[in-house]
Amino acid sequence: MALVRRSFLGVVAALALLACSREKPAPAGPAPSASAVRDGYVIGVSQCNLGEPWRVQMNADILKAALAHPELRLVFKDAQNDSLRQRAQVEELAAQQVDLLIISPKEAAPLTKPVAEVYRKGIPVIVLDRAVEGEEYSTFIGADNRRIGREAGKLAKQMLGGKGKIVELKGLMTSTPAQDRHQGFLEGLALEPGSALRIVFEADMQWLEPNARKEMESALAANRSIDLVYAHNDPGAHGAYLAAKSMNRADKIKFIGIDALAHEGVAYVRQGLLDATFQYPTGGAEAIDVALRYLKGEKPEKKITLGTRVFTKQNVAQGGEAIP
Ligand code: FRU
Repeated sequence: MALVRRSFLGVVAALALLACSREKPAPAGPAPSASAVRDGYVIGVSQCNLGEPWRVQMNADILKAALAHPELRLVFKDAQNDSLRQRAQVEELAAQQVDLLIISPKEAAPLTKPVAEVYRKGIPVIVLDRAVEGEEYSTFIGADNRRIGREAGKLAKQMLGGKGKIVELKGLMTSTPAQDRHQGFLEGLALEPGSALRIVFEADMQWLEPNARKEMESALAANRSIDLVYAHNDPGAHGAYLAAKSMNRADKIKFIGIDALAHEGVAYVRQGLLDATFQYPTGGAEAIDVALRYLKGEKPEKKITLGTRVFTKQNVAQGGEAIP
């Protein structure tokens, strides 16, 4: 299919993003009919939800990168945190014969088959951030969650001087980042039998701040002292902080989160609410780079691992520190 320069992105893309980001408006125009776009490339973007700031940022990053390539048109779908809805939307995008699919799946198991079916049709599929099972997709792009978890574990141990009570608030445990962030954390803590460092409470807050707040209330009620909270994302760490603050216990507790959006986790560290956050890049720009390579007929690598940075009270003013 020839690359033809197009002067607009689809209305669908513009509206989906404008509703939730501060992106400059994409030039609006009438939605092209399916046949009218055959001379450019249509990329379907299946996002598992837009209820969390990190996902809004991912879509904004995808759109920003795509805007530099007028031959691309994006069709965004928001599954509203429902795996069955996301499956139906993937099937819908495939039926519309998109040229390529970018998906950030809610959960591994329910999205594995729909992704594999698109891949088997010969449509390149880029899986972003949360993985599916098996190998039936084109490229996976994401940071190393196990490594981030491990670094968080080492930092927690160091912050507590090897002694204290920890609360772990996990992301949705049917999604791969939560499994890896948990596993890595245990490796980083490297607890010996009889260690003076203990995880006294753990719960699945499903990546959601209100759930984290509730779980933290239970943790506080059950434990006279808590020294550190490790939450699998910044909304979770912030929810835990709010619960502790409302009981006048936040000052005695250290809070570690993950994501490090400038206007979220990094701002919390700067304001002294969180003690540390690890950057979890969205991969949006990289997804468009890789998409263009597939569309040009190249064969990009199967897995692209993104780096991370840590932001603490000590280094936040200098823009955090890369983890080598
Ligand atoms: C957003 C989010 C992020 C987290 C990522 C993991 O939905 O919960 O906060 O880092 O998903 O997939």
